[in-house]
Amino acid sequence: MAGGDAMSGLRAVMLGPPGSGKGTQAELICGRLGVPAISTGEMLRQAVADGSALGLRVKEILDSGALVDDATMADVMEQRLAAEDAQNGFLLDGYPRTLGQAETLDAILARQARTLDMVVLIEVPEEKLIRRALARQRADDTREVISNRQRVYREQTAPLIDRYRTQGILESIDGDQTIEQVQADIADLFGVTA
Ligand code: AP5
Ligand code: MG
Repeated sequence: MAGGDAMSGLRAVMLGPPGSGKGTQAELICGRLGVPAISTGEMLRQAVADGSALGLRVKEILDSGALVDDATMADVMEQRLAAEDAQNGFLLDGYPRTLGQAETLDAILARQARTLDMVVLIEVPEEKLIRRALARQRADDTREVISNRQRVYREQTAPLIDRYRTQGILESIDGDQTIEQVQADIADLFGVTA
């Protein structure tokens, strides 16, 4: 089968702790899936860089490693998923991150008579994640913020794993491999040729 055709119209989520490779992998696979990769972290960082009203509101939260509130994120996602390029599927990176956000996403999709097809969990041991983030040195990658983001993940985002496992749409990937190996495993899951 030609790459990209297998799951066109796919609605999927990349789930995993900070630094697990969600963004890296979503960018690599989305072209082959023919759906946009939508990163809430990138959208928020862009809003900060633009100095928009949203950016001014969330800057301090991003700098601390805490989560932006669910209501603000619901507005961001409602708007983004209403855009033309998201009508035939999407690959979300960094959303949902709380049980409340998962419910919002279900509600947005239900209005379009749609559901999520798959949630890909990228698993990597925490000490490796901290090393990766320190090596990258993005503006918000100080040691304190990095460990705060890991704690926020454990407390607020990890509960989504059980939710999606119970729904029968969770697929786990070993993220402690090279970027190419992880990409090959994800391509297999989505049924696109590597
Ligand atoms: P966000 O930008 O989503 O950050 P994150 O998920 O916490 O972490 P990363 O983006 O760093 O991780 P990633 O899994 O994408 O890994 P990446 O591919 O970059 O969010 C930032 C902030 O925005 C949050 O803290 C929060 O404040 C706010 N926010 C965002 N979404 C929100 C929401 N829904 N609700 C509320 N607030 C929200 O890779 C990491 C590094 O590792 C890179 O340098 C990469 O090159 C490297 N790498 C990747 N894969 C491998 C590999 N296999 N081997 C070796 N190195 C690798
Ligand atoms: Mg990311």
